[in-house]
Parts: sequence; C-alpha cells; structure tokens
Amino acid sequence: MRKETLSTCIDHKGYNQNIIDSLDEGHMIKTLMEEHAHIVSMLDELTNISNQLKGTDIKNNKELFQGANHLILKIIGAEPHHQREERVLFPALEKLGITGPPQCMAMEHDIMRTMKHDLNQKLSFDDIMAVDIDEIKDLIEKLCDTLRNHIHKEDTILFPLALQSINNDSQWIDMRVQCDEIGYCCFCPKLTKNES
Ligand SMILES: [Fe+2]
Repeated sequence: MRKETLSTCIDHKGYNQNIIDSLDEGHMIKTLMEEHAHIVSMLDELTNISNQLKGTDIKNNKELFQGANHLILKIIGAEPHHQREERVLFPALEKLGITGPPQCMAMEHDIMRTMKHDLNQKLSFDDIMAVDIDEIKDLIEKLCDTLRNHIHKEDTILFPLALQSINNDSQWIDMRVQCDEIGYCCFCPKLTKNES
C-alpha cells in the first residue's frame, strides 16, 4: 500500500516536470507549477514539525510553534500566486465557457485563507500552556491535506485543461504581462535566481 502511494507520488512529480520542461521560461503556468512544488516542500516541513509536537514538552513546543508559524507566514505570502490564478487564469477559462473548475478552485482558496489565518492566530498565542496541542496538530494536518489536494487538482486537471484550451501564444503573453503587474511570491524560484 505504501509502495503504491510512493509510486503515485513519483509519477506525479515526473508528470509535472514534463509539463514544466515543455513550457517557455516565464510562462505563467510554468511559474505557478514551480511555486506549487515550493509550497509542497513547505507543507512537508510543516507536517514534520507537527509530528514532533507533544503535549508535555512545553519548551520544545514553543520552538516548534515558532518554526510552524514561520512556515505559515510564508504560505500566507503565496497570496500573489492565488491572485494570478483568480484574476488572470480563471477569468480566461471562464470566457471560454469553462466555469466549474475555476469556481471550485476559487472556493477552495477562500477556505484555505481562513484556515491559514486561523492557524497563524493560534500559533502566535503567547500563553502556550493555554493552547490545545492536539487541536493545533489537527489544524496543521487539515491545512496540509487540503492544500496538497488542491495543488494536485490544479497541476493535473486545471493547468492541462488551460494549456489545451488557450492555444493562442499571444494570449499567454498577454496573461504573463497581467501576472507581472500582480507580482510574485517571496519564495518564487524565478525571483530567487534573479536576486542571486
Ligand atoms: Fe495554485
């Protein structure tokens, strides 16, 4: 069973890499997918921290809370990523009559915004003794599951659908300009490369 899950994961990675490699540098879908990979690695770190949280070890929990909150703040910083999807990609699909999947994804963005801010608030609480560790672990697990599933749906259904439906190169260039106006995330791989 574990083997199957692992192979599905590897296949998904390979499949995504094929799409990323096939797109021009700066193509909005390429950037979104690279950002997804980065978000998934932050979720893995968050899950790792959550697994170390134990109700009895207050000192250790305090440090873990800080680490978890640092990651949550970075994940909250993915807002420009969601804005590019909501304000550029989804309307372009809706104009082509593809309305269901974008609406569903936008609804999930709203749900996840609430989850992220809720966690940030609880992890910032000064009095750690008053915090329910099991509740925090549960919230982290729910956020990670929801966000991983969401990213998987965008990578394997929504983005391939968009690449298939919008087959006009000049429209993708136009969309890229609109994305540039919205901006990028602090962890965007492209920005990191340019800064170095
Ligand atoms: Fe996304």
